[in-house]
This record gives sequence, C-alpha cells and structure tokens, in this order.
Amino acid sequence: MKIVITGVAGFIGANLAERLLRDGHRVIGIDNLAYGLRSNIPEGVEFHQLDIRGKEMYPLFAGTDAVFHFAAKNCIADCQADPVETADINVRGTVDVFEAARLGGVRKVIYAESSAIYEGAKTYPTPETDEAPESFYPYNDT
Ligand SMILES: NC(=O)c1ccc[n+]([C@@H]2O[C@H](COP(=O)([O-])OP(=O)(O)OC[C@H]3O[C@@H](n4cnc5c(N)ncnc54)[C@H](O)[C@@H]3O)[C@@H](O)[C@H]2O)c1
Repeated sequence: MKIVITGVAGFIGANLAERLLRDGHRVIGIDNLAYGLRSNIPEGVEFHQLDIRGKEMYPLFAGTDAVFHFAAKNCIADCQADPVETADINVRGTVDVFEAARLGGVRKVIYAESSAIYEGAKTYPTPETDEAPESFYPYNDT
C-alpha cells in the first residue's frame, strides 16, 4: 500500500514507518522537523520536510491508501506556554490533513488520541467516559 505518515521524524511516526517498510509498503513521510530528528527517519521513507499547515503537502496524498497522522505539538509545557500556536498546529493542521486526505481520495486516516484527556481522573481503572483534561494540550490533541 501507499501510506502517508505525518510526524514521521517523531517517536511513533518513525517506529511505525520502520515496521511498514519492513512489511513491504511504500511510505511517504511528512515532518517539519520542529521536534523530530531527520536521523530518526528510517531509510526508504520518501521524506518531505513540510509543515502540515497549508496546501503544499496536498499533492502527496493522491492515490494514498491510508494516512497515519502523528504530526503535533505535544510537549505539555510548550502547549501550555503557547496555546495559539498549539491550536494552530494541532487543530488547524489536522483539518489540513483531513482535507488533503479527502481531496486525495484517501479512505482511512488513523490518528493517535492522547491519554492526557484523563489526566485529572480520580477513578482507577478509569472508565473511557471519565474525561478530565486539566492542561491545554489534551483539549487540542484529542
Ligand atoms: N508518545 C506517546 O506516548 C503518545 C501517546 C498517545 C498519543 N500520542 C500522540 O501521537 C502523536 C505523535 O506522538 P509522538 O510521541 O510521536 O510525538 P513526537 O513529538 O515524537 O512527534 C511529532 C512530530 O511532529 C512533527 N511536527 C510538529 N509540528 C509539525 C508541523 N506543524 N508540521 C509537520 N510536522 C510537525 C515534529 O517535528 C515531530 O517529529 C501526538 O499527537 C501525540 O499526542 C503520543
């Protein structure tokens, strides 16, 4: 399959890319390297240093079977310090990813929700309905 991974230079994106390449898939990777490292990106990924905010990446989604969306600002302290940029990347950037996928005819977009929505939970084990976000990050990354 042709698979797009956003945030391919980050922790989850780079590890998933390695696995998908090993399984014989074609992997297109997008990352602006704001947090991730180029050296994390496995050999074989077709890498594009791009921001998820904006139309520049849209053509890469054409003919793609699935998108894994992991590009995000997700350091809780950084998100708290700059809520405007956090929302711009995590909310508006995600809309760009969905729109690129829609225009590219992609049938599946997979997204990693954060367990931080339960950061204020008082019941253990925590029921899924017991959402208790306390910082700015989980409000924007879920
Ligand atoms: N790591 C975890 O345990 C965990 C658990 C649950 C959910 N998640 C979620 O999964 C996603 C990925 O997590 P991670 O741990 O791999 O994070 P990470 O910080 O390692 O990777 C995120 C990548 O996104 C890139 N990025 C940031 N802003 C960008 C932009 N505007 N355009 C393009 N690229 C951009 C960064 O450079 C980085 O390489 C996040 O949404 C995170 O909240 C992570």
